[in-house]
Amino acid sequence: MQSFTVQCAKTVRGDITVPGDKSISHRSIMFGSLATGTTKVTGFLRGEDALATLEAFRAMGIQIDDDGSTITIHGKGLHGLSEPSDVLDCGNSGTSMRLLTGLLAGQGFFSVLTGDKYLRARPMKRVVGPLTKMGARILGRDGGEKAPLAIQGGKLTGIEYTSPVSSAQVKSALMLAGLYAEGTTTIYEPHLSRDHSERMLRHFGAHIESFEGGVRLTGGVDLKAADIAVPADISSAAFFMVAALIVPGSELLIRNVGVNPTRTGILDILKAMGADIALENEREQSGEPVADLRVRHSQLKAIEISGEVVPRAIDEFPVICVAAALAEGTTRVKDAAELRVKETDRIAAMAKNLAKAGVGIVETPDGMEITGAGKLAGCQAESFGDHRIAMSMLVAGLAAGGATTVDDTECIATSFPGFLDLLTEVAVR
Ligand code: S3P
Repeated sequence: MQSFTVQCAKTVRGDITVPGDKSISHRSIMFGSLATGTTKVTGFLRGEDALATLEAFRAMGIQIDDDGSTITIHGKGLHGLSEPSDVLDCGNSGTSMRLLTGLLAGQGFFSVLTGDKYLRARPMKRVVGPLTKMGARILGRDGGEKAPLAIQGGKLTGIEYTSPVSSAQVKSALMLAGLYAEGTTTIYEPHLSRDHSERMLRHFGAHIESFEGGVRLTGGVDLKAADIAVPADISSAAFFMVAALIVPGSELLIRNVGVNPTRTGILDILKAMGADIALENEREQSGEPVADLRVRHSQLKAIEISGEVVPRAIDEFPVICVAAALAEGTTRVKDAAELRVKETDRIAAMAKNLAKAGVGIVETPDGMEITGAGKLAGCQAESFGDHRIAMSMLVAGLAAGGATTVDDTECIATSFPGFLDLLTEVAVR
């Protein structure tokens, strides 16, 4: 088991680029494979999660070339996939498993999805349930709640579905099934989750109707190949934003970051806490808004976080906990029960780790209360096999007195290859 130790930084400085957006990278492979013609993808995230999706499509007969800079997908159209001869392994990736479940439900063949021990413990009924209503035949452990999932693809019918959770994975799984369904598929969600699937389908020429509270599509649309430039992942940039905010004298420029409004909850939250973050050079790239982010050290203050901003910052809560741990006052997070079913229970994991760093976190069923400690103590933290917990605690270590060691850091490779080198590069000692 690999571990990594960081020391307190004097300051954080640099002009950096973080790897490509994970959500958009997954979708570029999926929709590129289902489009007719050749799609060239630049900025693709070569992390384990997105590579699991890439390998799954290769296993279903799609030629995908990688020359080290550009990924070239030779799409075969909506009905071009073939039956994989083995189980498809999604590794740690919930996006691969849930979106593929929706897609595979509409194919004319049989397939099985599995993943690592963390993914096999995560809830799948949220997609299996509505897909079954569309006519899908899916079996899984624990009555279809847990992977491995066995999918006998077949005829689907569009439904109207109100999701109890704001989840882009649920929405996208149903949209992918909806591409194959007879009639119209409508999905309502409590608050708008990330809309990368909607944007990419439009980029590939499909008509997708987005309206207040939901999205609608009609089956049988043809997708036409279109090149994609993947922006840097705001969820990866978030670690460096918080690093610069909590270490005195810091200034960082993070280039080419995706600033899709369904993902910028982290900017809204940090700015409300008093963060000095400026968006520069705002532009659009393959249907997605992009900007450079300039972040300067700021004295942060506690806020209340709930409601519609939660799904727009869902992956950033571990590092928001770190910001809150150094803010003045008590930060309260509500409406975030989803954090308990991520790669690990992120509320429990951060409470446990930050307690070791001398910070009081009170857990609630759907959130937490974090009282800023003024300063952090160096500690021995655990990743719980979760990339974002590992990276958050290493960022915390930059502002801690003494060394901070994080155990089991291999998981960082799922979303952010090169993180440890980049963190070392920007931390001035
Ligand atoms: C993702 C959606 C989110 C997010 C995950 C990526 C996606 O999950 O946490 O990291 O690419 O659709 P949920 O849909 O479960 O909220």
